[in-house]
Amino acid sequence: MARIAIFGAGYVGLVTGACFADLGHEVVVRDILPERIERLRDGEVPIYEPGLDDVLARNRERISFTLDVREAVEGAEFLYVAVGTPPTYAGDADLSAVWTVIDELPDDARATVVMKSTVPVGTGEKVRAALDARGLDAVGYASNPEFTAEGTAVRDFMEPDRIVVGAFDESDGDAVEALHAGIDAPVVRADVNSAEMIKLAANAFLVTRISFINEIANVCELVGADVLHVAKGIGLDHRLGPHFLRAGLGWGGSCFPKDSLALKQLAANSGYHFQLLNAVIEVNELQKRRVLNKLERHLGKLRGKRIALLGLAFKPNTDDMREAPSLVLASRLIAEGAEVRGWDPVARPELQGVELCATPLEAVSGADAAVIVTEWPQLLEFPSEEARQAMRHPLIVDGRNLLDPATVRALGFAYEGTGRRISATDVLPEIAEREPETSE
Ligand code: UGA
Repeated sequence: MARIAIFGAGYVGLVTGACFADLGHEVVVRDILPERIERLRDGEVPIYEPGLDDVLARNRERISFTLDVREAVEGAEFLYVAVGTPPTYAGDADLSAVWTVIDELPDDARATVVMKSTVPVGTGEKVRAALDARGLDAVGYASNPEFTAEGTAVRDFMEPDRIVVGAFDESDGDAVEALHAGIDAPVVRADVNSAEMIKLAANAFLVTRISFINEIANVCELVGADVLHVAKGIGLDHRLGPHFLRAGLGWGGSCFPKDSLALKQLAANSGYHFQLLNAVIEVNELQKRRVLNKLERHLGKLRGKRIALLGLAFKPNTDDMREAPSLVLASRLIAEGAEVRGWDPVARPELQGVELCATPLEAVSGADAAVIVTEWPQLLEFPSEEARQAMRHPLIVDGRNLLDPATVRALGFAYEGTGRRISATDVLPEIAEREPETSE
């Protein structure tokens, strides 16, 4: 069993550390935030990630937390870098936290640096050169990108589709591969640049699928087809597969927006215009705004209208608000003069101008429309007689196709899905026939 230091106690670092401890390794997690380290030492888990608390709890004797670089590096054979790489103003990945970790390594460090953070292709080569320039020949380097999704990160780590290891030296690659003993998955061994590209290309491909099905959904709305049938029908082709074909109001989160932008910029900085990826990103921007068109179609001008946003986190089973579509929706609605209320079972964001409510029912009271922004399972129960009575206009815009249109319609709601064949105008004449209000 190895001693592993993990730099960064965020989603990726904590999941990686907890899971390596679960595999029997001795892990020390280092972060720069005193409060975070304190809470972790007290047995608290500072992020919402299902199952992570159990894994941490059962491995308490194998995992420790520190603020001190020396303490982390001392005796460690592997130095996992799992710090954030947010986009810069220019859209490139900001590697300052990565470089801080590398620069802070003591001169007598002897270990393999393993890059878990998502970085542009070429980063490993630059880090290798910097280590060499400092004479840190005893420090190896490998790339071991992560493919875990928030909400299912523990399972994704322990039961991955594949493990990717890129290294300059075979021995470093072998050692990193061996750390994963106990996990049953194919291992892809590659050079460092290719390992870095696998990560970016995988996320770019996933967002391409989502933007593709979102555009199909938009066309479905125009021609009277139902995207759920279409997605099922195309997903059963084994060459295409069923995953990431859920149409909705667009992709968000801590990874997809950042990584797609980073790949776009990486290509551009290298002299290549990545036309397809540009379109995929643009489709996603427009997709979020289509919700406003739907609301306006039913309600007329949105000034003075009360809109409830149900689900605020970028997806269910996380409290992560990074690049959540709810942020764009809330600010667009506020810009249009609407009154916005929000509900989420876990996320408690401070959104300027948005009143947070404790229950979906409270959020929709007196509302002109409820928008399902995040498909929390709790919302399956939301359409009820009580909710319909509470709303000023019983209109549901289902940005995630969570609900069954027929059931919702039977309850007396107007329903507008994403790419669904049944539109609200078929079902609630009093709303469809109402003249759009001019509310200024
Ligand atoms: C994503 C990838 O799925 C992981 O493989 C990857 O490791 C991770 O990014 C990363 O780079 O760290 P994550 O962002 O946690 O994981 O969440 P996803 O479940 O992939 O969802 C991302 C967004 O796409 C969400 O906003 C979700 O609502 C949206 N989505 C997903 C759709 O709109 N339709 C789909 O069919 C699937």
